[in-house]
Amino acid sequence: MDVSFAGKVAVVTGSGQGIGKAVALRLASGGADVVVADINRQTAEQTSVELLALGRRAPAQPVDVASAAQVQSMMDRVVAEFGRIDILVNAAGVAQTKPFLEITEQDWDRIVDTNLKGTVFCMQAVARQMVRQVPQEVIAQGRAECSYGKIVNFSSISGRRGRSVQMAYAASKAAIISVTQSAALALSPYNINVNAVCPGVIPTPMWEQIDRDRSRIMGAPPGEAMKAFVDKVPLQRVGRPEDAAGAVAFLCSTDADYITGQTLNVDGGFEMD
Ligand SMILES: NC(=O)c1ccc[n+]([C@@H]2O[C@H](COP(=O)([O-])OP(=O)(O)OC[C@H]3O[C@@H](n4cnc5c(N)ncnc54)[C@H](O)[C@@H]3O)[C@@H](O)[C@H]2O)c1
Repeated sequence: MDVSFAGKVAVVTGSGQGIGKAVALRLASGGADVVVADINRQTAEQTSVELLALGRRAPAQPVDVASAAQVQSMMDRVVAEFGRIDILVNAAGVAQTKPFLEITEQDWDRIVDTNLKGTVFCMQAVARQMVRQVPQEVIAQGRAECSYGKIVNFSSISGRRGRSVQMAYAASKAAIISVTQSAALALSPYNINVNAVCPGVIPTPMWEQIDRDRSRIMGAPPGEAMKAFVDKVPLQRVGRPEDAAGAVAFLCSTDADYITGQTLNVDGGFEMD
């Protein structure tokens, strides 16, 4: 798919590494300027350097998405610098693999605040700006021929079903499917599309940690948890960050102007609903 994002301004949270970084590279390759928003300043700056080499503007913006105040002031800085925001991709996330009986209140708050609250308040801050960008006559008529903003959230196949050793993570990812639908409905009068993706197993620093923890709980050597997952993947391989980035690019493109409130599995066929 050869899509142009020329002239678009995108904010990608969690783009210091892993899937978020692949998304940032994909959007920048298509011509977008990309704000690299990540809690890790060092990795955000590394991604920024790679995007600058593509000829794009790509400021690193350190932010903790679990803080609504930090999110709002980061988005204010982006608007002050670029004047607009066309695309938001919420890839920032944290996982935890721990038996249910051992989960603490702190564990729960960390996972849910980052994954769910972070997604919600990033959407809200960006949507406030996107709504300002919709021409008044379009709002008055209640219909438009094009989209005035694209938001893509990261759920997970763990959001499709319960997980015995990832209860907080699975709950936060299931709730992202719900808030994606709610935001899609709330923003439909403005022709802003809101969708989500559910990656399967994609080797990144996050999955490497999950594999170590799950393998230990299984009483098996590292690598076994990932192998057990891959054995159940119809396409018989793990995903690549670029597989998820391709789906995000499609959902951010004009080809997806008539798609909203949907959650797309990018998992080699692991889940089929
Ligand atoms: N890797 C997979 O197999 C997989 C599967 C399903 C879903 N996902 C989801 O995809 C997204 C990206 O995952 P990944 O594998 O690239 O993870 P990763 O751990 O490799 O990268 C996550 C990024 O988010 C950043 N981050 C974490 N907490 C943050 C915070 N509070 N504020 C701002 N940034 C923060 C990290 O610094 C990191 O750069 C996550 O939402 C994850 O839940 C990943």
